[in-house]
Amino acid sequence: MIELKSPTEIAALREAGRVVARALAAVRAHADLGVSLLELDEIAATVIADAGAVPSFLHYQPNSAMTPYPAVICASVNDAVVHGIPTDYRLADGDLVSIDAGAHLDGWCGDSAISFTVGVPRPADLALIEATDRALAAGIAAARPGAKVGDIANAVGSVARARGYGIMADHGGHGVGRAMHEDPSIPNEGRPGRGVRLQPGLVIAIEPMLIAGGRDAYRTDRDGWTLRTRDGSRAAHAEHTIAVTPTGPIILTAP
Ligand code: MF3
Ligand code: CO
Repeated sequence: MIELKSPTEIAALREAGRVVARALAAVRAHADLGVSLLELDEIAATVIADAGAVPSFLHYQPNSAMTPYPAVICASVNDAVVHGIPTDYRLADGDLVSIDAGAHLDGWCGDSAISFTVGVPRPADLALIEATDRALAAGIAAARPGAKVGDIANAVGSVARARGYGIMADHGGHGVGRAMHEDPSIPNEGRPGRGVRLQPGLVIAIEPMLIAGGRDAYRTDRDGWTLRTRDGSRAAHAEHTIAVTPTGPIILTAP
């Protein structure tokens, strides 16, 4: 069931989104050679707690998961696509890092992700990250009232496929509200004009996950969470929570 949000509720979601943006900015500022993923988790935890918010991922357990999620952020390095559990791994030269963070403030959720490199970047990684950011921007631009979920999916998927990147078929965006995962789901590939109609008050996370090399295959690590490309290709992830308004989309997780 899709729950549309009132302007007052969207204002509250914006405040939650602001906290997530702050957490991601702090993590990015601290992410450097030799810094561990657990240290990055601690930074996000501090920003979220200082804002009077609650981490949305910690202890989260969807029906599909064997174990509750054990951390504040997802830190997915190189061939990890999404849902990487932070470990004592220390960032190394040329790593491609995706950080996903979520927070609840006053009962409302924000969910957002960024990808970046540390040290000397591989040119192919910069191209992959740029395409992922462009896919997200295209998806957001398509989220106008009267359009359909398929228009967003098509916008995201077209950017990825035009550049020869792979996409994980059964992972994508989702509705956001009091819960982190609400209806509808927002695929990263699809046919324009299909699916649910976008109405003012719809709040969704759009989250392209692009795989270098063009293959779509991935597997789950033994930790039960980390999704990794099957062929070892690198992957990037970008995500914003947005609201559809009468005048167009607004980004709730913008800084
Ligand atoms: N952006 C991610 C998603 O929607 C956040 C979930 S991380 C989890 O899948 F660990 F909490 F599941
Ligand atoms: Co999400």
